[in-house]
Amino acid sequence: MVEIMHHNILELFELRRHALAGGGDKRTAQQHQRGKLTARERIHLLLDEGSFEEIDILKVGRGEGASDSYPGDGVITGHGTISGREVFVFSQDFTVIGGSLGEGHSQKICKIMDLAQQVGSPVIGLNDSGGARIQEGVDALAAYGEIFHRNVAASGVVPQISCIMGPCAGGAVYSPSITDFVFMVQGTSHMFVTGPNVVKTVIHKEISAEELGGAAVHAEKSGVAQFVYPNDILCLRAVRQLIAYLPSNNRQKAPLLDLNDPPDRTDPTLDYLVPPSPNQSYDMNVLIYSILDGAEFLEVQPHFAGNIICGFGRLGGQTIGLVANQPAVLAGALDNNASFKAARFVRFCDAFNIPLVCLVDVPGFMPGPEQEHGGIIRHGAKLLYAFSEATVPRITVIVRKAYGGAYVVMNSKHIHCDINYAWPTAEIAVMGARGATEVVHRRDIEKATDPEAMLGEKMEEYRKHYMNPFLAAKRGYIDDVIFPRDTRHRLIRTLQFLESKKAARPERKHGNIPL
Ligand code: HXC
Repeated sequence: MVEIMHHNILELFELRRHALAGGGDKRTAQQHQRGKLTARERIHLLLDEGSFEEIDILKVGRGEGASDSYPGDGVITGHGTISGREVFVFSQDFTVIGGSLGEGHSQKICKIMDLAQQVGSPVIGLNDSGGARIQEGVDALAAYGEIFHRNVAASGVVPQISCIMGPCAGGAVYSPSITDFVFMVQGTSHMFVTGPNVVKTVIHKEISAEELGGAAVHAEKSGVAQFVYPNDILCLRAVRQLIAYLPSNNRQKAPLLDLNDPPDRTDPTLDYLVPPSPNQSYDMNVLIYSILDGAEFLEVQPHFAGNIICGFGRLGGQTIGLVANQPAVLAGALDNNASFKAARFVRFCDAFNIPLVCLVDVPGFMPGPEQEHGGIIRHGAKLLYAFSEATVPRITVIVRKAYGGAYVVMNSKHIHCDINYAWPTAEIAVMGARGATEVVHRRDIEKATDPEAMLGEKMEEYRKHYMNPFLAAKRGYIDDVIFPRDTRHRLIRTLQFLESKKAARPERKHGNIPL
């Protein structure tokens, strides 16, 4: 009996040693030569030191391409902690059959996804894979389907984060794209539904993997990636930062973090932020960094649709989701990309109990055939829908322009924002002074001996009468006109009293957001 036991312990040592070796020294060296860390090195950097508990290290695949020669079947799965909070993680091992995904590999991922949902902890996937394991045929496709289904089931229940740290091609891209945040590494990660070879065969176009689906493409053009970093180390560090802002699941609130920044801190320079001329721009980041605790802000999709800024910060220690127009880019107008970007962010915050703070300086929706034909009606409606359905505490500060439909869409009182503030510099109106004057006084201006002078005079009248926050405040559409320097304090006090907010919604299966 003792002998048998001894033999099994030795076998366990041997199996573990084998699994820990991955695809072997040669392939590990190749991985490093490409500037990539191995699957285990990545887990080590992602999680708190010594916290990783591996699950299914001994599991092998049953398919033709897999064999007993690779315990672990090309993916490392388990759980560990980030700043002391539990997360589940899978890390594909490119050194083992190219990290390709077959039945066993998928079952391992599905197991930790199921556990994560049951215990209420985030799932972080480190993707580095040649995709469906070709030798497993339809079983590999079925295996992907099982993951996709779980991605959807977990959506809005636990945060899901995908790091693309190697190839991610074909239908495999759809798992990361369903998750909440996609991180990519410059130069080593690629995502596409059909790769350069297929592009060449089907549409006779030569294009590199980088040009087709590199990190820059997805961060700046497609909007698939929310974060991009130059290497694996910085990417994994950023995932840790993001996790710190988030609750572990949709039943919890985000953890409080005291950054020792006085809640009643004022900033008199904000009184001078808005320039005297409405045509002059300024950088909304000045306001953002001034009001947030410790001037810490994690911007989401910083390289996509710069006309709107989305990201996480803290006010009085509490995580908030911040949505702000950026007048320094496209005058802060809402276009297709900005609407879609902000709508997805708002929905994430609402799903995970993160209060929303909206800073408004918006001249309207972007005009023109490009936007109209690109679907500004559909995309703008997404943002309207997302704010309207959000039941988390919602606060808006109108800094300057809030014109027309864009005023209503940007978390206005009329779509049931909880508390709406305006700076004295706010201009809440149907449209800007020139447009409005040209419509209302066109005939008088045409007849005038000096049309330019008349236009100027009428514009000035319009500005004085309509372009201020006081008319809206008289109606109660603005709860208070606040001094810019007090913005931080007012927001923190408002968040405090809204903390216990409860909002009921009619019973239904789900709404039908204009996708
Ligand atoms: C089986 C695979 C594999 C795969 C790579 N390998 N991808 N084995 N199935 N899908 C193996 C290779 O045979 C090789 O084994 C090892 O992994 C490393 O691959 P290399 O080609 O040597 O590496 P590299 O030159 O870096 O090229 C990486 C690659 C290339 C770009 C990912 O391997 C590739 O194009 N693979 C196929 C990608 C693909 O088309 N996948 C299917 C996508 S469709 P050896 O033993 O020689 O070292 C898909 C559908 C999902 O995934 C469906 C969801 C519904």
